[in-house]
Amino acid sequence: MAPLDRHVVLVGFMGAGKTTLGEALAVRIGRPFIDLDRLIEGVADAPIPELFEQGESAFRELERKALGILVGGAPRVVALGGGTVTVPGAARILRDHAITIWLDEDVDTCWERARGGDRPLAQDEAEFRRLYAERQPLYAEVADARATDVDDAVLAAAGVRVERGALQQLGALAAGDGPAALVSDAYVAGIHGMDAQLALGPRLATTHELPQGEAAKQLPALDRLWQELRLDRSGTLVALGGGTTTDAAGFAAATYLRGIEWTPVPTTLVAQVDAAIGGKTAIDLPQGKNLVGAFHWPGRTVIDPALLETLPAEQRLEGMAEVVKTSLLAGENLHDLPDDELVRRCAAFKAAVCLRDPHDHADRKQLNLGHTFAHALEAAAGYEGLTHGRAVALGLLAALRLSGRDTGLVEAALHPEPARVDREAAWAALQRDKKAHRGELRLVLLEEPGPVWDVPVPAADVRNALDELIAE
Ligand SMILES: NC(=O)c1ccc[n+]([C@@H]2O[C@H](COP(=O)([O-])OP(=O)(O)OC[C@H]3O[C@@H](n4cnc5c(N)ncnc54)[C@H](O)[C@@H]3O)[C@@H](O)[C@H]2O)c1
Ligand SMILES: [Zn+2]
Repeated sequence: MAPLDRHVVLVGFMGAGKTTLGEALAVRIGRPFIDLDRLIEGVADAPIPELFEQGESAFRELERKALGILVGGAPRVVALGGGTVTVPGAARILRDHAITIWLDEDVDTCWERARGGDRPLAQDEAEFRRLYAERQPLYAEVADARATDVDDAVLAAAGVRVERGALQQLGALAAGDGPAALVSDAYVAGIHGMDAQLALGPRLATTHELPQGEAAKQLPALDRLWQELRLDRSGTLVALGGGTTTDAAGFAAATYLRGIEWTPVPTTLVAQVDAAIGGKTAIDLPQGKNLVGAFHWPGRTVIDPALLETLPAEQRLEGMAEVVKTSLLAGENLHDLPDDELVRRCAAFKAAVCLRDPHDHADRKQLNLGHTFAHALEAAAGYEGLTHGRAVALGLLAALRLSGRDTGLVEAALHPEPARVDREAAWAALQRDKKAHRGELRLVLLEEPGPVWDVPVPAADVRNALDELIAE
């Protein structure tokens, strides 16, 4: 079952903060929140302490029935009670229907929060600590991931693992448990391919190479990959490389045998914070980029920030454009964070947006901030001499100006340089991309408190903003 179809369940001891984090997570990923204790109280029409008076096993039976909400139904965020994991059959329900996240809070904090209340099992400190120690292994056993904050929980809900050294755990982390075909960028294969092969261990079935760069997203490369693959439907495709590799290999996974499991292992900043997250896969046509593709959410995404250490500076700058875009959308300076945290926070931001709107009907459009301009400039440059990242840096300037916002942050972080392209060609490309309706174009802008999309902007203003990005 794919992450998008699974409930997200929070487990952990009394006082770990499951309800607080669960509510925040539900808002972030756009799902209803259910607290199992509240549900039981509602159904039984009595408060938990009173229900507990009938004995712990009677209460566990109420919990067992309440767990039925995890079987089927639209995916939700559900906080379990501290002892629900001891209910017979609970572990199985979690395994089959949920992504289970453990809030592994220390016992002192739990006690401070739980003491003095009416929780039946939080009356005696020694007993509380004994029970805490007893429960830890049970949480560890059912958990798919641990979380200390909402970003961790969002990533877990999306099936994304961000961790230094994650590449070395690829055999355990890659989606599914069957054989794996490792597909990598021909250049990246030489740097990180052997580590990936070793980590996949006995799961490794075959290895495949895609050409470096955008050539990976051309039909001949796909055709070759389709024909090389030997997996059956129990197999997993593992895509090691930048966004071109994850886009192309992800599309192969979406189409081969009508769709098999896959795990992107992004190796560029662009791919770690953007391309490998959210389940969009695509290849190019001569008529344009990303014109053939599929939504195919990976069962697991493995992000190891250590892989960025071999990334050339100019590739890093490409990623920083998307990172600064994320800072603007999130209203927080994420681009100043140290690498591991920068990747974790940006990946979580994109994952949350995509969980809210997996098929790009609404919320997800905000990720196009600055991109209408960027695409027009790239097209006018004939996709040469102006990289996507440089074009996005310029596009962000235009979006900010049209939003009446200060551009200082983008200037300081990305130093955008005016593009040397033909103005008429850029304007023509922008109009091809975005059809004007009654003299207006619809753009993503930044307002208070955050991004808005499909905002009508007079064509003349858009043209002026575009012109400002182009060198005399
Ligand atoms: N699916 C999506 O949602 C989405 C989002 C954004 C971008 N994309 C796509 O992503 C692609 C761009 O991705 P990209 O910028 O990662 O380009 P890329 O995959 O071409 O990688 C850039 C270069 O870096 C090299 N490289 C990769 N990892 C390295 C490492 N760890 N050390 C040294 N060199 C390394 C590659 O060999 C390549 O030459 C575009 O095709 C774009 O359409 C997709
Ligand atoms: Zn982009």
